[in-house]
Amino acid sequence: MKVAPSLLSCDFAHLAREIANVTELGADWIHIDVMDGVFVPNLSVGLPIVEAAFRVSALPLDVHLMIVQPEKYIDAFIKAGAEWVTFHIEATNQVETCIKKIHHHGKKAGLSLRPGTPVFVLEPYLNQVDLVLVMTVEPGFGGQTFMADQVTKIQWLYEKKQLHQLPFLIQVDGGINQETAPLCQGADCLVSGTYIFKSPQRKQAIDFLKSIRRKT
Ligand code: DX5
Ligand code: ZN
Repeated sequence: MKVAPSLLSCDFAHLAREIANVTELGADWIHIDVMDGVFVPNLSVGLPIVEAAFRVSALPLDVHLMIVQPEKYIDAFIKAGAEWVTFHIEATNQVETCIKKIHHHGKKAGLSLRPGTPVFVLEPYLNQVDLVLVMTVEPGFGGQTFMADQVTKIQWLYEKKQLHQLPFLIQVDGGINQETAPLCQGADCLVSGTYIFKSPQRKQAIDFLKSIRRKT
């Protein structure tokens, strides 16, 4: 299982140290949550933090855009260092344009959806994206409770992937911990903020998530 620690729960006063620490402990990607206060009722970080993270990170940056009209900012986030750019289907009416913009730069495109959005709306794009991000909390804040009813979306995506031999990765984000991670059968990558960064035993937390076997 790939593990992407979400910087949302890290100590931003020591950003470089936090990134180096989870890198050393075996993380695969660094997940950065970008919020605009419009698509979600919270503000987080933007381009300068992605640039700073890129300068110090040996791992790929996995940028989760929770912003309206992502098409306006995709180029800038890629310039700042994003390797994976995930945007929300509810945030734009230009889904294909966004995917193409990301691919134009040779980067990986991810598509996400809120818990209230039915998963089948992603179907037309499954053969175009590199990743689908299933939100298991309402986007906007770290430290929320895992919504177990979202697990069926992971299963649906996994079946589509198998049926049509599609290469996209399934990522899950929100409320991931020791109890909930094993429920994400079919996932390729787990995002985790609180469980990793607030844990007194970060190594154990990362090791545990990595030890979950991917469904084959
Ligand atoms: C929420 C973000 C998540 C968040 C997860 O909108 O997308 O990446 O950091 O935090 P935890 O792991 O604490 O639920
Ligand atoms: Zn996220």
